[in-house]
Amino acid sequence: MNILYIGSGFVGACSAAISAASGHNVLVYDIDEKKIQMLGSGDRDTVESCLFEDGLGDLLVRNKERIEFTIDYGKVEDFLDICDGIFMCLPTPEIGETGESNLNYYFDAAQKLSEGLKKRNNGSQDKYVVIVNKSTVPIDMVNKTQEIMDEAGVKNYGVVSNPEFLVEGKAVEGSLRPDRVVVGAWKEQDFEIMRRMYQRFYDSPTVKYIEVNPKEAAAGKLLANFTLFNKLAICFDVIGRTCETFEGLNYESLRKVLATDPRIGTWGLYDSLYAGGSCFIKDARSLSHQLQTAGQGAALVDGTYLANKRQLEMFIGRAEKEVSFDWTNKKIALIGTAFKRDTNDIRNSASIDIGHFLKEKQVDEVHIYDPAAMDNFKLVFEEGDQFIYHNHEFDAVKDCDVIIIATDWPQFRGLADVIIPESKEKKPLIMDGRRMLQHRYGDLQEAGFDVIAVGSPFIQGKK
Ligand SMILES: NC(=O)c1ccc[n+]([C@@H]2O[C@H](COP(=O)([O-])OP(=O)(O)OC[C@H]3O[C@@H](n4cnc5c(N)ncnc54)[C@H](O)[C@@H]3O)[C@@H](O)[C@H]2O)c1
Repeated sequence: MNILYIGSGFVGACSAAISAASGHNVLVYDIDEKKIQMLGSGDRDTVESCLFEDGLGDLLVRNKERIEFTIDYGKVEDFLDICDGIFMCLPTPEIGETGESNLNYYFDAAQKLSEGLKKRNNGSQDKYVVIVNKSTVPIDMVNKTQEIMDEAGVKNYGVVSNPEFLVEGKAVEGSLRPDRVVVGAWKEQDFEIMRRMYQRFYDSPTVKYIEVNPKEAAAGKLLANFTLFNKLAICFDVIGRTCETFEGLNYESLRKVLATDPRIGTWGLYDSLYAGGSCFIKDARSLSHQLQTAGQGAALVDGTYLANKRQLEMFIGRAEKEVSFDWTNKKIALIGTAFKRDTNDIRNSASIDIGHFLKEKQVDEVHIYDPAAMDNFKLVFEEGDQFIYHNHEFDAVKDCDVIIIATDWPQFRGLADVIIPESKEKKPLIMDGRRMLQHRYGDLQEAGFDVIAVGSPFIQGKK
């Protein structure tokens, strides 16, 4: 089948690659020229330096005959003559702190698309096409898409909602072997086209292929994300806080007690200083906004958002509260800038708020390391005298007053091996926002380091 992707970010690029690998002929359009060049380069390393997703580079290189990236709308218009499905993978960020989704990216793309669709097949519009919302959108978005198309005079089309459930960092693996595919449509004809596009999943005995209406599909995505976000908030704000408050409670031990109950499950049972990324926060805010606009209360949704938000403030505040730490003129190591491991995405990363806080506190130097996300971080905190970037976490921590661990890259678990022997004179305060060194807290304490960790009471170093 012939499939067009509009928007080539994490969602668009990864699912376009899967479509090509499923035997379809794929065209990907984006307005970002640099991104299109890099993703279409045919070079694995170039792809990965654009979108750090395990397996994406290999998949694009392997299927390069079946996938093309373009910024040329003329190509898109030609493709519309034969196109079976158009996946809309546009950003839908929050407008300020209102909860409302900014749909301008989507509307701009849909408007332009409607003009192209109207002209297809020399104006006869003979070819039936489905427009598929893959972006996370408000529940009534299907109506808005239809309005745009109808107003422009587009004929012979259907609108489908097919929310994306990928997990960044595991997007390719997750999309090749999804646990579910959710397709929302009004018409059997649209379901039929979607089944053909997703034949490999429709036929798979391990994938739950769920057909609902478009509003249920959109609502299902928002509610699924809220449920996961709420679980994370419980882990941070209730389980973590309990462990920080009462001596003798170990987070990892309690996790074992909880995780063995299948009703609770294992997903998300870790402590952190923030659930960041591009989805959980904005989707919870959007759900709250939609409920309130419809005259409902959204206390639990808002409470979850606030519980997440306060973690970082509480964590950073502990330095002043527990060791009377004065940040002025200090040398800080900031370890990890991605919002989580296995990605170069820094959207809603705790490190951004930490960077702004350190600037405000007029620290002397911030020494930074992340295995994948430093280029993106440099766009926010320019490399210079205050923000200094390193090629290894061991270099970044040298001679610092505080070491803040903000991302859970597995390699950071080895940091104590270098901190303990190499910090004989000056013992930095260890602030572990991810419990990456929990297996070494006892050794660090014995060696004289003070440790502030999420999910632990203050650990005072032996002097
Ligand atoms: N990132 C995730 O993990 C994830 C998971 C599930 C769902 N989603 C949802 O999917 C949607 C896309 O997310 P993303 O992370 O891929 O976003 P992204 O910001 O990584 O990518 C969006 C792309 O759209 C392009 N774009 C903007 N306006 C355009 C236009 N008019 N025409 C063509 N291209 C245009 C941008 O240049 C960008 O490359 C959002 O609604 C998001 O909530 C994201």
